[in-house]
Amino acid sequence: MNPIRANPLSLDIEYAIRDVIIPATELEKQGHRIMKLNIGDPNKYDFDTPDLIKDSVKEALELGLNGYAPSSGLPQLVDAIKMDERSRGNNIESNDIIVTHGVTEALQMLFYASLSPGDEVLVPGPSYPPYITYVKMMGAIPVPYRTIEEEGWVPDVDDIRSKIGPKTKALSIINPNNPTGALYGSKTIKQIGDIVGEHGSSFIISDEIYDLMTFDKETPSTANENKDLPVITMNGISKIYLAPGWRVGYLSIRDPEDQLSEIRDGVERQSRARLCANSICQYGYYKALTTNRDHINNTMSKLKKRRDLAHRRLNEIEGTSTQLPGGAFYMFPKIDCIKEGPWKDDKEFSLDLLKEEKVLTVFGSGFGKEYGSDHFRIVILPQEEVLDEAFDGMDRLIKKRTQP
Ligand SMILES: Cc1ncc(COP(=O)(O)O)c(C=O)c1O
Repeated sequence: MNPIRANPLSLDIEYAIRDVIIPATELEKQGHRIMKLNIGDPNKYDFDTPDLIKDSVKEALELGLNGYAPSSGLPQLVDAIKMDERSRGNNIESNDIIVTHGVTEALQMLFYASLSPGDEVLVPGPSYPPYITYVKMMGAIPVPYRTIEEEGWVPDVDDIRSKIGPKTKALSIINPNNPTGALYGSKTIKQIGDIVGEHGSSFIISDEIYDLMTFDKETPSTANENKDLPVITMNGISKIYLAPGWRVGYLSIRDPEDQLSEIRDGVERQSRARLCANSICQYGYYKALTTNRDHINNTMSKLKKRRDLAHRRLNEIEGTSTQLPGGAFYMFPKIDCIKEGPWKDDKEFSLDLLKEEKVLTVFGSGFGKEYGSDHFRIVILPQEEVLDEAFDGMDRLIKKRTQP
């Protein structure tokens, strides 16, 4: 019998955020308690889907929404998304929206519809891994652009200018950002847009899944800041509405100069071929967008305390330093002491921290080697006691490995 070969591109897929769970599960089996600072799922911590959103699922069942929905989405949800985007200045129409199984499926569809082998996509460095892996799956090339750590991880527009070229098909922005928690202001978003506008044959992908999760300032809508450009905005129920397992999101296409007709067609065809997103959960997202959103303030006031604690502790530990995030629930601290040689790389640091102190983080190079190395990502979702205990462990390990 001969081995039946896989598509080699599928064997290159890596997702560091979940890959680190394997050794952690092993330790748990041995009876250890793991402090989990690794996964961006608020529901794994002391956050839960608001009751009024949960109740909508029962309502959807009572309404009999058990059949397939239209491929582009449940009409009431599409309408709610349109109103929501418009309230942020993104003047789209209903037929510009496609509801998907989360931003993840939106990305898959969009990359499949737009990329050919050899095309390049500018992605933030460091970057949320699907922007790297899915682009590679298409035989295309993710080109990371620098974000400036010392300035709070904002994009380096000169670096973008130097990397955009004839092969560039798209540029992605994640705002607020995963893994750094950076929040980009209107000025930066416009500067990036100007470069894409000068280029003339590329579009912007704006992942705004954390848009309402900010600490002080608001997230600008990329499409609103760049009204003349082709911008595909993505968002969903996972983060703000605390329902990541429901798997609902969308992409919306803003295309003022009609440059994206083919890509739009390619996405729509895929949406029809996969029938529709989950009808019941689409109704839940419709309710989430159209009812009271005070729950976001509660989430953010909890997160703000945890962010401040994590920021203080990580800058106090001799050997790590970190920037203050403006949004989302991540931090991307630097392992300053790595240059002294206690670990060969950030992956070894994260695994050592897990084995010795039972603190689970994600190694920075999992978000792209060029800009992610010598860092690690944490979530600030755990309760303060857990964060404190985890930072105590980190401090102990670093002292043990760096002091004779
Ligand atoms: C920037 C970003 N985009 C998309 C996703 C996934 O979105 P969804 O749950 O809608 O697929 C995540 C999840 O962590 C994320 O951080």
